[in-house]
Parts: sequence; structure tokens; C-alpha cells
Amino acid sequence: MSEQLTYDPAYDVVDPKDFRRMFEVERYNRRSDAFDTIISATHEHFWDPTDRRYLDFSEPFDLTRDSIMPMQRLAEFRSPLVQALSKEDQTRLANEVMRWQLSSILHGEQGALSLSAGLCSLLHDVGAQEYAANQAREEARHVTGFAMYVESRWGTAFPIGETLGDLLEELVHTDVVWKKVVGMQMLLEGLAMGTFANIHAHTNDPVLKRLVQLVMTDEAFHHRFGKIWADRTMPALSQAERHSIEDWAAECFESLLFNLVNIRQKRAVYGQFGIDWKELRDSIREVYDESDRRGELKEGTNIFRVLVRTLVKAGIVTKRTRGLYANWVDMAELEAEGDEMVGDAIARDGIDYLLAINSGRRDIAAKTAA
Ligand SMILES: [Fe+2]
Ligand SMILES: [Fe+2]
Repeated sequence: MSEQLTYDPAYDVVDPKDFRRMFEVERYNRRSDAFDTIISATHEHFWDPTDRRYLDFSEPFDLTRDSIMPMQRLAEFRSPLVQALSKEDQTRLANEVMRWQLSSILHGEQGALSLSAGLCSLLHDVGAQEYAANQAREEARHVTGFAMYVESRWGTAFPIGETLGDLLEELVHTDVVWKKVVGMQMLLEGLAMGTFANIHAHTNDPVLKRLVQLVMTDEAFHHRFGKIWADRTMPALSQAERHSIEDWAAECFESLLFNLVNIRQKRAVYGQFGIDWKELRDSIREVYDESDRRGELKEGTNIFRVLVRTLVKAGIVTKRTRGLYANWVDMAELEAEGDEMVGDAIARDGIDYLLAINSGRRDIAAKTAA
């Protein structure tokens, strides 16, 4: 269990097969209050993907005419092979690329649900369990929300890509809490916040725009759980322990990046247009190299900003791995920024939207009771 690196009793761990330890009488009185503000905030951002008052998946979007994301934001459109397609096929391909991205997000939400449910039988502290159960409940509505969206637009999702599937499987199966927290709450949740902020800023589909905003009202809190863990753990670690966390974080970052930008991972998309993924990859490389891609990712709504900044502030990025992140994020700019996170403002507006709907619900409940 030494691999656990537990320095705060809130993160105490039991062997998940040793269920009897959950009945230890003393633990009920030792509940940590570290997560209480996050747990009680859940009622302010309650939403229900199956309730049309929050969002309506039956609102149509013509996939044959419009692209969900502007084509110039998709790397594939740099390729002459894609540019040679008919207008109709270009629109269809742009939407299939988004189907792949949203399928990855759906699988990622399932990973987050299974991971947080697993934390409930691994963590020993009652307050930490309540946090994890609450996150599991919120991830469950994200699975429902994205499943409903994908179904409304395409019928079914794409199968998971190998890289993301392997990473999620590793995160769900490991009993090492810090790997779960760094891999999921800091990296995956951080990347998700950046991706959702990017979709929110540019999508042409109002239903998707609303969906990602509502998901962000939850995710902003999940990301905070990672920060609490880091604040309470990182300063207590030995150098060797800090290095193992830093290296693990860098490894996860590379897997996520690979899943995101790698054409091979998306090969299921291109076959239906008669495009070979290797030829597509080579043709994009000819006109658009890694440095162009990095330059683009550094601009605007940078999808890596949230996660890299959290890692930097937590002391998980030192000069040992700084160079890896500097390829994708402007580190000097990032370090000079205040505490506002990409996506925080969108999540706050989302909470205002939810407060208005939820106060109406309470009126209805009071009338029904009366
Ligand atoms: Fe989620
Ligand atoms: Fe989450």
C-alpha cells in the first residue's frame, strides 16, 4: 500500500475486497469536511438530460447541410484529399469527425462514472466517499446526456479508440488513488473543460452548445477535487515520490494528446469516404506540420490550458517535464495568468441558467404539495 502516497487521512484507502473495514465504528465519526462545499453545491447546478426544460434533444440539426463545428477548425480540412470531396461529402466528413470526438467524450464520461463509483469502495473516509458518490451521480447524467446527443444526431457512437480505451481501463482498474486523481480529475477533466469551452465557443449546434455548458457546471467542481488532493499531498512528498507523480502525469498527457491529434485513431471515419488514413496523414503533414498545429493549439480557447495550469500550480510540472507541455501551451503566458480558469465563466452562466429553471421546479413542487 506504500504506493498509495497517502499524506492526508481524507484519502485513506482500504483493500476494496476487505469490505468489512467499512463497518469500523470509529470511521463514521471521523468524516472529513474537505469536500463539503463541493458536495452541497451540487443542488445549485442540478440538471436532468431527460427533461426538456433543461435542453431539448429533439431540436433538429441538418447534418447534410451544416457542420456542427466550422470546417476550418478540423485538421482534416488541410488535406487536398478532403478538399477534393464534394461539398456534401465535406459536410458529412466534418460531422463524422465530430461524431468521433463526441463518441470519445461519451466513452470518457463512462470512464469517469466507473472510476468515481470505484473510489467509493476504495476510499475509507465517509466524506470522501460522499464526494465520489456525488461525482458518480453527475458523471452518470453526462453519459446519458452525450448518449442522447449522439443518438439524436447519428444514431450510434463510434467504438472507442485504442489509446483512450487503454488509458481509461488503466485508470479504472488501478487501486492507486493518486493515479486515479491525477489521471482523471486533473488531466482528463482538465482536457474536457478545455474541449467543452472550445465547442461552446464555436459550435453551430445550439443543442450541443447548451449540453456542454451544463456538463461544465458539474466538471468545474470535479476538477477542484483534484486541486484539493494536490494541495494536501504534493508538499508532503519526497522528491522520488514527486518524480513518480510528475512522470505519470506526463505519460497520461501524451496518451491523451495522441488520442486527440492522431489520424490513425480516427481511421473508422475516413474509410466511408474512400480515404486511406495513411494517405490522409501524409497529405496533412505536407501542408501542415507539427509546429503549425502547435501554434494553432496555443491560440484562443486553448484546450490544454486548464489541465497544464493545474499541474503547474500543484507543483506536478517541474523543469524535468516542462518542455513536453511547452510544445502545446505558452508556458510563460500561462504562469503569468490569474486564477480564472478557461470555462469558469461559461460554467457560472450555466449555473445562473439552472438556478432560474430549478427555482421554477421548486414552485411546482410546492404547488403540488399544497
Ligand atoms: Fe463528466
Ligand atoms: Fe467529471
